[in-house]
Amino acid sequence: MPHIAPLSVLFAALVVWLYLSVVDEATRVLSERAGLPHPERRARVVRRLVLGVIAGVILLMALPGHLLEPDTASNAPLPQQATYAPDSLWTGADTARLTFLDENDRALIRYGRELIVNTAAFLGPRGSVAALTNGMNCQNCHLDAGTKPWGNNYGAVWSTYPKFRARSGAQESVEKRVNECMERSLNGTALDSSSREMRAIVAYMRWLGTGIHKEQKPKGSGIVELPFMDRAADPHKGAGIFEAKCASCHGQDGQGMLKADGITYQYPPLWGEHSYNHGAGLYRLSRFAGYVKANMPQGASWDRPQLTDEEAWDVAAFVNAQPRPTKDLSADWPDISKKPVDHPFGPYRDPFSEQQHKFGPFGPIAAYYEKP
Ligand code: HEC
Ligand code: HEC
Repeated sequence: MPHIAPLSVLFAALVVWLYLSVVDEATRVLSERAGLPHPERRARVVRRLVLGVIAGVILLMALPGHLLEPDTASNAPLPQQATYAPDSLWTGADTARLTFLDENDRALIRYGRELIVNTAAFLGPRGSVAALTNGMNCQNCHLDAGTKPWGNNYGAVWSTYPKFRARSGAQESVEKRVNECMERSLNGTALDSSSREMRAIVAYMRWLGTGIHKEQKPKGSGIVELPFMDRAADPHKGAGIFEAKCASCHGQDGQGMLKADGITYQYPPLWGEHSYNHGAGLYRLSRFAGYVKANMPQGASWDRPQLTDEEAWDVAAFVNAQPRPTKDLSADWPDISKKPVDHPFGPYRDPFSEQQHKFGPFGPIAAYYEKP
């Protein structure tokens, strides 16, 4: 773009110069014929002026462009932005800005999003890429492709990883964290870090994280923290809530329902062999209760919940008392004093039972660790 202006000046100057030469030649011939004196000097001055313009333009074009270009910042795309709802809760990255990315990056990000939304189609038992998972989608738990406020979204992933995590006792990259959900929540096998699928998921996380400063956790990211109840959560009460408010979609038997394609779930399972295993985040009562409070039954949101806190805790207790796949967790929490209050497997540094760590009451356990 910036070279078009000098080019047209050059062209115009050349035309003028040619025109002047022709006119000058013509008047010279006419003057000679008429025996008049020819205004030689003036014509030469004009022609030199025009030549000067031509030389100037050529010089301008030969100079390195950045010395001359006006500040083009105003034409450049705006930086990638995070988007926020009116209540200032994070709702994702600005999709319109995708168009400014390199075509390959864009394709990778789109594929990453697709893998989150439709995991089973690629990686499920009948997946087109590989059969690595139990058939659930990442989106079943990370709602709206990981962008729903308090919908267990990915708002804080890119800004907080790599980070040290007590569960593994190690520094975790985004890849490692993704694979933990592959092996626990999807009760499956890890993705190779160099696979196109993992690179796509990481590219998507990175894109979601644009506009969010390092170490910053945008408001509304992750899962809501419900206050502890004074009592233990009650699976029997939870059974009634499940019956009334969950079974219509997830099924009386909690096994969910596949879509007509037989590949992805219309309603994902809540327990049984196709569900998350007991090493998954949702197996901790606080994660399940917080997730469900702000998101279930489907259509609920953090500001329009359909369950009371008590109902959320009790239904969590009921669901997590049902059978599900197991996993070897012996390497988890190498420092046992770092176990969260609701991690239901000992040994513990505190005197409370596994039963209390599973269902509560959690207040006394938390208080034990807060004591100096
Ligand atoms: C059965 C539910 C479930 C499924 C399915 C699931 N996750 Fe998760 N995921 C969780 C829970 C629960 C957490 C922990 C949230 C917390 O502790 O606040 C989590 C955390 C994460 C985190 C870390 C978030 C953070 O801010 O620290 C990433 C990244 C992640 N999951 C990626 C994935 C990907 C990718 C998939 C699909 C391959 C997936 N998850 C499938 C439940 C699930
Ligand atoms: C109207 C249908 C509907 C009802 C009722 C419903 N859910 Fe769900 N639930 C869904 C759908 C659909 C998803 C997956 C969301 C997605 O993929 O976007 C889901 C996902 C979940 C998940 C995460 C994925 C998994 O399978 O582990 C949990 C946990 C869950 N629901 C629990 C509950 C509980 C507890 C109740 C009752 C309080 C409930 N749901 C009521 C439709 C429903």
